[in-house]
Amino acid sequence: MANFRAELTGVFGDPVDDNPTGIVEEAAYTAKGLNFRYLTIKVLPQDLAAAITAVRAMHFRGINLTMPHKISVIPMLDMLTPAAEIIGAVNTVVNDDGKLTGENTDGKGFTASLIREGVSLKDSRITLLGAGGAARAIAVECALAGASAITIINRNAARGQDLADLLSAKTEASAVCLPWEGRVRVPEGTDILINATPVGLMPDSDSCPDIDYASIHPGMMVSDVVFNPVDPLFLQKARQMGARTFSGTGMLVQQAALNFELWTGVKAPLELMDKTLRRAFTGAGR
Ligand SMILES: NC(=O)c1ccc[n+]([C@@H]2O[C@H](COP(=O)([O-])OP(=O)(O)OC[C@H]3O[C@@H](n4cnc5c(N)ncnc54)[C@H](OP(=O)(O)O)[C@@H]3O)[C@@H](O)[C@H]2O)c1
Repeated sequence: MANFRAELTGVFGDPVDDNPTGIVEEAAYTAKGLNFRYLTIKVLPQDLAAAITAVRAMHFRGINLTMPHKISVIPMLDMLTPAAEIIGAVNTVVNDDGKLTGENTDGKGFTASLIREGVSLKDSRITLLGAGGAARAIAVECALAGASAITIINRNAARGQDLADLLSAKTEASAVCLPWEGRVRVPEGTDILINATPVGLMPDSDSCPDIDYASIHPGMMVSDVVFNPVDPLFLQKARQMGARTFSGTGMLVQQAALNFELWTGVKAPLELMDKTLRRAFTGAGR
């Protein structure tokens, strides 16, 4: 019997108009011949419960959550994966016959992008700028992937300490928080430095995190969650110091690929998704 009903997926957020995940997922669905759609949907905080009811009522296969819904959605779900439980935030929901499971693929996307580039997290020493939603997800997944020490540097010291406490309590990694006072130095012995703040994001692409760039050295891996621009000033300055750099596009694409696989059960066409995203931002990769 013919099936003319598309499986629905999408993202709820506000603001959400500039979220590029839709073009990446839709390109992957088309490439794999899947009758799936991905809709970019503006949902205000007061309407989130109604939107989640609609996910069940309209038999969405899954949904992504972005700002400001990643935490507030949790009581509306049936269960969480262990990582989402520790992180305390959900960016992906899978709907199995009305049962909604919350997962967090932000950090997994980050670790997958490093592993794809041949970087091992085992026994690594990580310095993380920021302690918000992206930083929490990245820190937890890096710890679960075997990082031995994580230093959090955050403006709001209480928020930074909270993340360090969470890592110490729930993972094997040792974690400390340093205050972000003035032009902070990257601690000696750092293997991987990550900017998990939005500093440098368009339209502020002339700015970069206020750190002492002379404390970055060759041999250090430096990464950024900012994916627009594709090569933020932070990474350019790190390369000037001899470090190897990884763009936030890798994290975004890997995360989209994980979502694709959770919803469809089909292996994601990573190269195509990567090219689609880069083309959207730079016109490159055609
Ligand atoms: N590449 C990807 O796939 C991906 C995935 C998810 C998110 N992201 C990006 O990650 C970024 C952060 O998102 P989020 O959800 O974590 O945001 P968030 O929860 O609002 O957290 C923002 C963090 O950045 C810090 N911060 C903000 N402005 C700063 C400044 N001028 N100087 C120093 N620190 C500053 C904040 O410090 P305080 O605590 O002191 O306020 C906080 O720790 C966004 O740009 C987002 O687009 C990328």
